[in-house]
Amino acid sequence: MKGVMLAGGSGTRLRPITHSMAKQLVPVANRPILHYGLAHMAEAGIDEVCIIISPETGDDIRRSVGDGAAFGLEVTYVVQDAPRGLAHALACAMPWADGDDVLMYLGDNLVRDGLVDIVADFSTSRPNCQILLTRVDDPSSFGVAELSDTGAVERLVEKPSSPRSDLALVGVYLFDQTITGALEEIRPSARAELEITDAIQWLVDAGHRVDASIVRGWWKDTGRKEDLLHANQLVLRDLAEDVRGDVIGGQVRGSVQVDEGARVVDCDITGPVVIGRQADLRRCTIGPNTSIAAKCQLRDAHVEDSILMEDTRVDGWRLRSSLLGRSTRLGGSAPERFVELTLGEHSRIIGQ
Ligand code: DAU
Repeated sequence: MKGVMLAGGSGTRLRPITHSMAKQLVPVANRPILHYGLAHMAEAGIDEVCIIISPETGDDIRRSVGDGAAFGLEVTYVVQDAPRGLAHALACAMPWADGDDVLMYLGDNLVRDGLVDIVADFSTSRPNCQILLTRVDDPSSFGVAELSDTGAVERLVEKPSSPRSDLALVGVYLFDQTITGALEEIRPSARAELEITDAIQWLVDAGHRVDASIVRGWWKDTGRKEDLLHANQLVLRDLAEDVRGDVIGGQVRGSVQVDEGARVVDCDITGPVVIGRQADLRRCTIGPNTSIAAKCQLRDAHVEDSILMEDTRVDGWRLRSSLLGRSTRLGGSAPERFVELTLGEHSRIIGQ
């Protein structure tokens, strides 16, 4: 089986962060989201992966993943000229797949329990397509599946306004080569995209076997800020305590990771918290559920439930549920209250 990782698209729901970076490279627990999916593919025994990239952010993805050797993968890149839909993205990879089974993975998704069991199920029971489902509170934000009483897939609808089921499609799909026919037959949807849900519906209607399984463990689509912060919290929950940097004075509670070269002086840290390489924190209160990336410099700051990307500097501010892009600066006289911010890279706020 080969892997197809979708890392194109436009990331409109995560603006302004995605004005300057690919949404799949936003870090969760200081690691780009995309890397989790690639690691899961390798763990499931997939060793060849095609990554679909966009002309705008493709070079960043290439720099971040390289030739895939760091994951134990052989990676090929294919550029999708515009975000014409998930089925279009898959079609771009089909010549590369060359008739093999494929596992398609949406690059902004996180699946806690990985892919080992799913790949094994598919290889044993050999349906034409296997989809994963999970119950959600807001089905109209997802592709939704309607199942029969016996659990057979009857209908798939993309982001229905009046959903008839709360079973959302998770961003992991397995196909044998039957999908090629569907990709050739479907037409663009009302939002002008070639929908993977329509392609799978085509398989159902043509009498091919589409199996559905319910995911165990959590699954997260990180397309919106609140989902991203929640994903950060979920990943940090499994963090092992590991202090390699210098922690001098202050207090550390719960599971905290401090990477090599980081300095944490007179700080009050409540895990789960991860602090990246060469970060420098003084007199700060941090956590819980907070990721501070490499080279951040924080002074007298209070940060909880947040993600701070590389090289961010915060002086005296109180942040909650915030997402700060690379090289952001917050300084001057800080507001007394906690603030919730989403800032793109190189933003500066200097309070008067
Ligand atoms: O996350 C699960 C949901 O993902 C499913 O429930 C939906 O059925 C499915 O359509 C999809 O919905 P989204 O609206 O979340 O898809 P999004 O546009 O965010 O794209 C998912 C990933 O695929 C993302 O990493 C960007 C990439 N992509 C997207 C498009 C439209 C591409 O590489 N090319 C594309 O043309």
